[in-house]
Amino acid sequence: MKITAVLLAAGQGTRMKSTLPKVLHPVAGKPMIWHALHAVAQATTEMPVVVVGHGSDEVKAYLGESAQTVLQEPQLGTGHAVMQAESLLKDKTDLVIVCYADMPLLRGETLKKLVQTQQHNQGPISMLTVIADDPRGFGRILRKDDGTVEAIVEEYVATPEQAKIKELNVGGYCFNASWLWDALKRIPKNPKKGEYYLTDIVELASKDGLSVHATVMEDIEETIGVNTRIHLSEVEAAMRRRINQTHMLNGVTMIDPVSTYIEADVHIGRDTVILPNTYIFGKTEIGEGNEIGPNTMISDTKIGNGCKIIASSLEGAILENDVDMGPFARLRKGAHLGNHVHMGNFGEVKDSYLADGVKMGHFSYIGNAQIGSNTNIGAGTITANYDGEKKHPTTIGEDVFIGSDTMLVAPITLGAGARTGAGSIVTKDVAEDTLVVGMPARAIRKIERKPKKK
Ligand code: UD1
Ligand code: MG
Repeated sequence: MKITAVLLAAGQGTRMKSTLPKVLHPVAGKPMIWHALHAVAQATTEMPVVVVGHGSDEVKAYLGESAQTVLQEPQLGTGHAVMQAESLLKDKTDLVIVCYADMPLLRGETLKKLVQTQQHNQGPISMLTVIADDPRGFGRILRKDDGTVEAIVEEYVATPEQAKIKELNVGGYCFNASWLWDALKRIPKNPKKGEYYLTDIVELASKDGLSVHATVMEDIEETIGVNTRIHLSEVEAAMRRRINQTHMLNGVTMIDPVSTYIEADVHIGRDTVILPNTYIFGKTEIGEGNEIGPNTMISDTKIGNGCKIIASSLEGAILENDVDMGPFARLRKGAHLGNHVHMGNFGEVKDSYLADGVKMGHFSYIGNAQIGSNTNIGAGTITANYDGEKKHPTTIGEDVFIGSDTMLVAPITLGAGARTGAGSIVTKDVAEDTLVVGMPARAIRKIERKPKKK
């Protein structure tokens, strides 16, 4: 059986007060629509269709090859939006799931249940509802005596009696495709707003004597639709709770989940402990038995097993096993620390490989460097890698001892077993097992000043 999702994403999202299309606002680091696509993928067999309108270029650019798109122009309501998908889907699918792209908490599991409900329904529609005390502006569900759905009444036309109904329309539907396309054309134009409401299709079916089934959802949180940035923050908090709980159930300890921020794509292995106020972003993969935080920020980084990272910032880095970092260490893009590397306070590493057992305890900057195993980088060592125009490499062999406050003026190579005295300024390559010291600053040439930028 072919099942295809249509995601509605053409609305303006006026209440977000943003230049960014609503469905591209991030939740747990991913655009809202990423979450919606992720959920529908679990319940469908075909590539989804996204109905775009406002900000369509940006939305299409984000979607790329992940979905087919169809333009709704002008936007004449949710029923009109689904109609636009007919050209792509007629005779190509058995069931059509329709949901709104601004509901990032809706789970794939829930949509799977919706599909199952429809597979057991003789009639053409199954839908998701929820029972809630706070109606949040949702449509109210009218049921017939036999328990099937008779109609959805939008809040602004509901009578006071209807407004009291606690069963609400979530905005997730599963239709028999063979029935859907013609029925959409019969939706009447709403006299007040001039729009075609998808919700009116329910009454059409019911008047034809066809049964509309409803699955009542248990988790109200899943039904939060984002219309304002306040809703966005509610969704963010709920998503964060959900992500953290998944990690904890998978064997990760979180001392304080409320102050732990982990984005949707992050992987964390068992027995890793995350301490408070830690942020883990992007495509980060963390192995087992690590201790991370407090006060740590990690993005797009790969961490092995058994590492200890305190109050540090890591971005685009790789750590092998048993690395010991921080407090106040910073890894920038391309930093690669081998096994048992120790990096203490106020160090920065960028585009460099520190082989197994390297120690840099305090106040050093290492950029564009390759450092051999078991080398010791003394306090305050700097690789002077930038001459104002170009970056230059530094290569240091194994078992080197760099004395405190050494300046390594790149390009430069130090052979294995070399040593530098405290305060050395090293401008020439150092041979293996050789000690260099000294070199006070002295004038060597005139430099041309660059004209000041305005
Ligand atoms: C809709 C439902 C309501 C339900 C609620 C749940 C209708 C008429 N009402 O109301 O019963 O309780 O969702 O959140 O469907 N969109 C388009 N094209 C359009 C209009 C809307 O693509 O012409 C998209 C929007 O981008 C949005 C979704 O459809 O993603 C829902 O539209 P919205 O205006 O938010 O509907 P609600 O008033 O929330
Ligand atoms: Mg809405």
